[in-house]
Amino acid sequence: MIIVLGADHGGFELKNIIKEHLKERGTAPIFDEEGNQVQDKIKIVDLGTNSSDSVDYPSFGKACGEAVASGKANLGIVCCGTGIGISIAANKVKGIRCGLCTSVEMATLTKQHNNANMIALGGRTTSPELAIEIVDAWLDTKFEGGRHQRRVDMLDEM
Ligand code: RB5
Repeated sequence: MIIVLGADHGGFELKNIIKEHLKERGTAPIFDEEGNQVQDKIKIVDLGTNSSDSVDYPSFGKACGEAVASGKANLGIVCCGTGIGISIAANKVKGIRCGLCTSVEMATLTKQHNNANMIALGGRTTSPELAIEIVDAWLDTKFEGGRHQRRVDMLDEM
């Protein structure tokens, strides 16, 4: 399981905290059609940024979105000051469903209902502790399928 990470200067510290957490965590579940899960080793691809020098969040959201949409990564996590700008950028890439998460409930629901293949977090709005809980909830939750599959298909047609 390859997880791509990206951030601007407003999110790079949180991105690096999440990166360390993913390394410690080590694995994440992959769910098959029957709902069975197997734990898969997490491999991280970090597309930066890695300093407080001002950069443009659209570039990083786009790069991470393209990594997931192309299949080079399975999932993506992006951070900017609020998570808003970088989620907008990622969602402009066809095939990306990036959920901006500010709570564990949103993280759970964006996997259950939207089958989000990326999440966005705000480095200036979400504490590191909550961000880690959000990441874990999103990784460990299974897409519900059923009526949600039709809606996800509609998103992917856009
Ligand atoms: C950068 O100052 C800030 O605008 C950016 O990190 C983000 O919050 C945009 O949505």
